[in-house]
Amino acid sequence: MKGIVLAGGSGTRLYPVTQVVNKHLLPIYNKPMIYYSLSLVMLAGIREVVIVINPSDEPFYRKLLKDGSHLGMRIEYSLQEAPLGLTHAIMSTRDLVGENPAMVVLGDNILYGHNLGELFRKVKDSVEREGGAYVFGYHVQDPTRFGVVEFDQEGRVLSIEEKPQKPKSNFAVIGIYFFDITLFEKGARVKPSARGEYEITSLLEEYLKEGSLRVSLLGRGFAWFDAGTHSSFLEAGNFVQTIEEKTGYMLGAVEEIAYRNGWINREELKKLACLYQKTGYGEYLLKVAEEETNIAERLYFHC
Ligand code: TTP
Repeated sequence: MKGIVLAGGSGTRLYPVTQVVNKHLLPIYNKPMIYYSLSLVMLAGIREVVIVINPSDEPFYRKLLKDGSHLGMRIEYSLQEAPLGLTHAIMSTRDLVGENPAMVVLGDNILYGHNLGELFRKVKDSVEREGGAYVFGYHVQDPTRFGVVEFDQEGRVLSIEEKPQKPKSNFAVIGIYFFDITLFEKGARVKPSARGEYEITSLLEEYLKEGSLRVSLLGRGFAWFDAGTHSSFLEAGNFVQTIEEKTGYMLGAVEEIAYRNGWINREELKKLACLYQKTGYGEYLLKVAEEETNIAERLYFHC
């Protein structure tokens, strides 16, 4: 399975902040926003990722994330000619993703919770084995502001309605999706909506029609943010700061995840940490590398 992170769009809800700088390069507390969405794909164990960007942002992304090899990954960029919608963004990756299933993450989504990696790996396995597609349902107070999913006892999706006046459930669909290899064939059938965009809901509709769209519900212990408005942007930053200061663990530290996944070794992690000397981020990465050293040394001593 390959990963697709959508980092194009126009970010009009964050204007004037995003008039010049792309939304996903802005900091959520202490890291660029894209780190959080990229880390979700990495937690699923996916090493090959395509990031969809606006053509003018290419130099910035290449400077920030390069070709991914420093993380033991392969990162490629798909230049979306115009922000014509999420399905349009996904379709732009067709040649790069090829005949593979894909995990798609919206670049402005931040998700935090226990055992996320395990959850994603299970869903990934299911899509690779049985096909179909998955969305994730998140319980919200006011479903009328979101895409709302209705489902049966087996987790089969019955409907998804955008900002319904009479919501059929309290579960909002978040910006993380898993698709089987029929993704691009189905995406090619999507027509622009009334507002002229190739919508993700139309793509999900294609899976819904054949009865192969499933939902996985996120329990109470998860925090989800779509950092696309001024207040949710600030809220997400404050949340990251609170969790990091309380637990001593960082969210979205891509170097740490690469290391824990076994994609880079301790020396490589230390080298990356040295790039951020004098910041809490660099200190944290060094601590992660040292922690493991200590554990390894203790084990060695007992042997
Ligand atoms: P949106 O938040 O729906 O759109 P946007 O980022 O352009 O923001 P706004 O509504 O404020 O104008 O997009 C969701 C995610 O998908 C976001 O992370 C950007 C990305 N995206 C693309 O990559 N290509 C696109 O054509 C669109 C519309 C969005």
